[in-house]
Order: sequence, then C-alpha cells, then structure tokens
Amino acid sequence: MEIITDIPSLRLRLKSEHYVVFVPTMGNLHEGHLSLIQIAKQRSGCLVASIFVNRLQFGETRDFDQYPRTLIEDFKFLENHGVDVVFAPTEKDIYPVLQEFVIEPPPLANILEGEFRPGFFSGVATLVLKLFNLVQPQLVIFGKKDYQQLCVIREMIRQLNLSIEIDEGETVRTSDGLALSSRNRFLNGEERTEAACLFQVLSKIKLEIETGNKNFEELQNTARETLISRGWDVDYIALRQGNTLAPAQINNGALVVLGAAKLGKTRLIDNLEISVEI
Ligand code: PAJ
Repeated sequence: MEIITDIPSLRLRLKSEHYVVFVPTMGNLHEGHLSLIQIAKQRSGCLVASIFVNRLQFGETRDFDQYPRTLIEDFKFLENHGVDVVFAPTEKDIYPVLQEFVIEPPPLANILEGEFRPGFFSGVATLVLKLFNLVQPQLVIFGKKDYQQLCVIREMIRQLNLSIEIDEGETVRTSDGLALSSRNRFLNGEERTEAACLFQVLSKIKLEIETGNKNFEELQNTARETLISRGWDVDYIALRQGNTLAPAQINNGALVVLGAAKLGKTRLIDNLEISVEI
C-alpha cells in the first residue's frame, strides 16, 4: 500500500489507472468503514481510501479538535485489508488558501442534519467534490449510516454531471444494534449501554409501519418521548421518503426513519429503511 500525503504525488500515482474505486473517510477506522472497503474490493481496479478530518464540516472548533485521530492504526488497518493507495493530506494541502468557492447544496441539505448543523453539508460537499477532482474515481462508496449525506452526494453527482458511479454500504452495528461510529468512544459505560436505545426506537417504528400502522405522527412522538424520558436530548426523529427525504406519505413504498439525539455530550445519528407494501 502506498501512503500519499501531497497532491502532485497523488496525481502522478493515479495518472495511468483506468478504473479507480474511492472510499473517503475521516479516519479512526472501524468495521463500518471496512464494509465499504470490502464492497470496493469486489470491483477490480485501483482501490483508494482517503483520511482527512475536514474542518469545513465542523461547526465549533472543539468538536473538530476532539475528533479522534489514529493515523498510524488506520494505515495498518487499510494495509491489512488490501487498499492500494491511501491519501492522507494535511490541511494545507487541501485548503492552501481560504476556501471561498463552496458548494451550496440543495434544500435537501437544510433539513434534519442540515437544520441542526448549519453549513455541514456545504462543508461535506465542497470537500468531497475536491477529493473527487483529485482522485478522479470511476466508482465511489458511501455508507447508509449517514443516509442524508449519501442523498446529498448522490444529488451532487447527478446535478453537476460528474461521471462517477456511487454505491452504498449497509450500516454496520454492534450486537446490541448500536451503529458503529467514531463518536461512540466518547460514551461512558452507562451511556454506551443506553446508546442502543436509539436503534431500538427506530426499529419499533419500522416494525409498526411494516405491519400496517399508518399513524406516523404518533409513532414519531412516542419514539421521541421514550428517548426524552430516558435522558436523551433529541434533535429529531423523522419519518421521510427514501432518497428525497420529503415528509413520509402513507402511499409511498420506500420510507426511512432517521434519528439524531444526544446522550450526555455525545451526539448520535442513526436511520433505518422501511419498505411498505402498497
Ligand atoms: P466518516 O464518518 O469517516 O465516514 C466515512 C464513510 O463511512 C461514510 O460513507 C460513512 O457513511 C461510512 N460509515 C460510517 N460509519 C458506518 C457504519 N457503522 N456502517 C457503514 N458505513 C459507515 O462521512 C464522513 O467520514 C465524512 O463526512 C466524509 C464523507 C469523509 C467527508 O469528510
């Protein structure tokens, strides 16, 4: 595996590759990231992963400063799993000057995560487009764990006519259902046990809807109240149409329920797709 940290070396290394598969990450890698690498490996081609903690998508600097950075372990992890090239640039490489040209994402990016983290998807989309321009991949893999991010990137590829195929990985969870996330390490013992409750309330909504319950409003409220009564600080529990994230309609077959809530100081997000017979 080659570790590349500067842009000229990256361009030189990838210049003669015909088929590049790309998995962007912020590092502190876990089995969730690995599942994307494994999807990427099913295609023959040059497998590139990136590790870059993107300041542009963090609101307050404290969250950015505290984001776990485990580069050495991450390099070993990627090497052990057959990645060909890891691109791990410094901030100066990616943002040598103030990034004044930015992507303004569609309204889809102003709801849910976008409402609670203003500017987040503009920061994500701007960085991801820069990475796409640098790596010039034919195929990119993103996780459903960040469902709205996946929708925003898919839409960016479509509306900006990028010649890139996008594939998606299912959310990888621990045995109690908690979605793997770099932020889980901030949970203390008690919070870690409680954390699975977010998955449980989303699962309950999924089960209810898949077995015929059409009272969306009540299902969302009950989930929210359950979490609040257990000490969570809830940002949203929202039942939406798949892909567009428009409010869920009873006669739509593909729905998704998304949740974001804080347990102590740690903010967790999760979602589940729901398929309804119509
Ligand atoms: P990061 O949180 O490191 O996630 C990188 C990729 O891994 C994303 O596509 C994310 O959806 C996926 N992922 C994370 N946890 C997962 C899980 N438990 N199961 C399956 N996939 C999972 O998302 C980002 O970084 C950044 O916003 C980035 C796109 C790199 C731009 O900075």
